[in-house]
Parts: sequence; C-alpha cells; structure tokens
Amino acid sequence: MNTDLQSLPEIPWNRPSIGDEEVAEVVDTLRSGWLTHGPKATAFEGAVRDALGVQDAFAVSSCTAAVHLGLLAAGVGSGDEVLTPSLTFCSVPNVLRQVGARPVFVDVDPVTYNICPREAETAITADTKAVIVMHYGGHPCDLRAFRDLADQHGLLLIEDAAHALQAHRDGLRAGSVGDLAAFSFYANKVITTGEGGMLVGRHDLVHKARLLGRHGIDASVWQRHGSRRTADYDVTVPGLKYVMSDLVAAVGLQQWRKLPAFTARRAEIAVTYTRALGDLPGLATPTVLPRTDHGWFLYSIFIDPDRSPLTRDQTAERLRTEYKIATSQHFRPAHTLQVYSGTATRSLPVTEKAGAQQLSLPCYPAMTEDQVVQVVTAMRSLWKC
Ligand SMILES: Cc1ncc(COP(=O)(O)O)c(C=O)c1O
Repeated sequence: MNTDLQSLPEIPWNRPSIGDEEVAEVVDTLRSGWLTHGPKATAFEGAVRDALGVQDAFAVSSCTAAVHLGLLAAGVGSGDEVLTPSLTFCSVPNVLRQVGARPVFVDVDPVTYNICPREAETAITADTKAVIVMHYGGHPCDLRAFRDLADQHGLLLIEDAAHALQAHRDGLRAGSVGDLAAFSFYANKVITTGEGGMLVGRHDLVHKARLLGRHGIDASVWQRHGSRRTADYDVTVPGLKYVMSDLVAAVGLQQWRKLPAFTARRAEIAVTYTRALGDLPGLATPTVLPRTDHGWFLYSIFIDPDRSPLTRDQTAERLRTEYKIATSQHFRPAHTLQVYSGTATRSLPVTEKAGAQQLSLPCYPAMTEDQVVQVVTAMRSLWKC
C-alpha cells in the first residue's frame, strides 16, 4: 500500500467513532448465518421509528436510495416541479432528475442557511408536487412553516434529514414532520454504517417504498424463510434493490445507542469553538435559534473576505499546509454544478454567498480536547488575534 503519511492531516475533517460494541455485533451477525436484511435491520428500523414516533421505517443502502424510493412511492415524476435548496449535496437534485422531475432551487435564509419558507411559497406553481427541505448542518429548518405550507398547497413534504438524526426545533424532531424523511449513515455522518440510510414516515408511502426497494417482491426474504416457502412470492411492481443488509444494520444498532452521547460531545466542541472564535473579525460562527437542539453534523463558519484577513479558501489552505488541519465545504451550490448549470430560475444570493464563504471545521466525538485547542489556536494565529 502506497500511503504518503506526510501528506495526511493530523486532524482530519471527520473520523468515525467505532468501538468494540460495533465489532462484536458484526461478528455476531457473521456467525448467525443471516447476512442480508433480516432481524438486525428490522430492529434498527424499529428503534428509529419508535424514537421518532413515525408510522414506519425502512433501512436502505443510502439516504439517496431512501429519497429515490420515497419519490417513486409518492408518484413524483415526469413534469413535476419539486422545491429544494441549492445549498445542499447533489443527491436530492440527482434523484429528482432520475425520476423525471424538475428541481426548483429556492434560496436559504441567512441565519440558519435552511430553505426559506417565504421564498418557497413564492416558487409554487401549478406543477409543484413536493418540497424537499434539508436541515443544514443539523439545524432543523422551520418545520412548522413547511408543514403548513405543504398542507395549504396540497404538496408532499419530504425531509432530507441526512444531517439531523437527533435535532429538534419548536418541540418537533427533525425527520418526524414530513410525509417522508430520509437519513444518511454515510461514513462521515453523526452515526455511521459506512454506507446506509433510512426512509421513515407515513406507513402507506414507506410500505410502497419497501416493496420497490426489494425488487417489487411482495414479501421480504426474512418473511419467506420464516413462515412462507422461499418461492412463494410475486412481483407486483418493477422494483430496485436498495435494502440494508444485517451486517450493516449491526453497526447501525450499536451506533444508534451512542447517538445521544455523540451529539452531546459535538455540541460541547461547538460551544468551545463559538466561545473561542466568536470575536474574530469577519468570521461568523453558527447561530442556534431559540427552542432548537442542533444536531451538529457541521460546525460551519462564514468568512467575509471584505472584513477578515483571509478568504475562505486561503484559510482552508493555510490550515491544511501550516497546521495539518483538514476542513470541508458544504456545499458547492447545486445550481453551480455542471449538470445543473443554467437551471436556476430564481435568484439565490444567500446560497451563492454561502457557497463562497462557508467552511466546515473538524467537529466530531473522536476529536481529543487537545485537537480542539489546536484548531482554535491555529485559527486565532491565522487571524493574528
Ligand atoms: C444533505 C445530504 N443529503 C443527502 C446525502 C446523501 O447521503 P448518502 O450518501 O447516504 O446517499 C448527503 C451526503 O452527504 C447530504 O449531505
């Protein structure tokens, strides 16, 4: 293996926290003789469903798969317009295109960087079928406003809750308000299974999605190996294959147990950063609205080049080269990606400003206290403060 250790950051932007519990659960699964979607995936689904108080949950191979299945189950397709932020990952715009729908990019608010409900309302047309909100960095969007908007206009509400597995706003838990919501357990997420996702929400829609996600077969392989004969099935719709395996769910079950502690540690690091960096000129730390529990997937700072000594890109580069600290950017706005260029029908000034100024600092439970201090010290030295 040719790994240039010299070039690896000493403080990576993210590092998963995997313990002996996950290893033991995977070994238990390997030894159990049941590897695909079965008892462990079902238990994982049950744990998430009950914690959120939603009707149903389906564990799948990624958040992208969850949204894809949700759109297919809800009949969103050709000719439909779907409102979505551009300040997001390419995943949702991509699946919208895959089902033949048109992403309509809506600007975000300048405080939480979540899709703005007032902007969204003005983008509704006779072709609008759904709105897909995203809880930016783990700060929930205005869930009450979006539920009302969807109900008033007869729209489907989907939450891309990839960043917000444990987050609340105004007494509502992210992922529990939409007709559907999708979570990600990708390698860098607040809990991880390497790759993985979950679709939750209304039973009628998740039930359809479950069918579509296992080839269109009308009974799961676990059910068929239990009370039914293995060939005793029919295919009722042309489906896809998106289920989560029990090997993956084994990791998820143990990570899920640790979610409250992980989130608490992320919040602690966030408080330290905000206290230590809040006075740096031209640098904005994240705002947490009242009655909000932030999920802290991201610790986002915004660097105004007119008021700070360095631009966002210079800061990232100097942290990397001089201090071996890795950072990330969330996101390159979707409408600036080649595949979506020229598709924005509305002006997106806050999104574009965020695309130029946002930087994600390392913020995850595997960071040591010393590493948190190193990030703070590096930032303050770069600002000469
Ligand atoms: C907002 C958002 N949505 C969706 C995804 C896609 O998640 P997955 O890789 O599980 O499909 C990501 C991934 O990083 C994301 O940040």
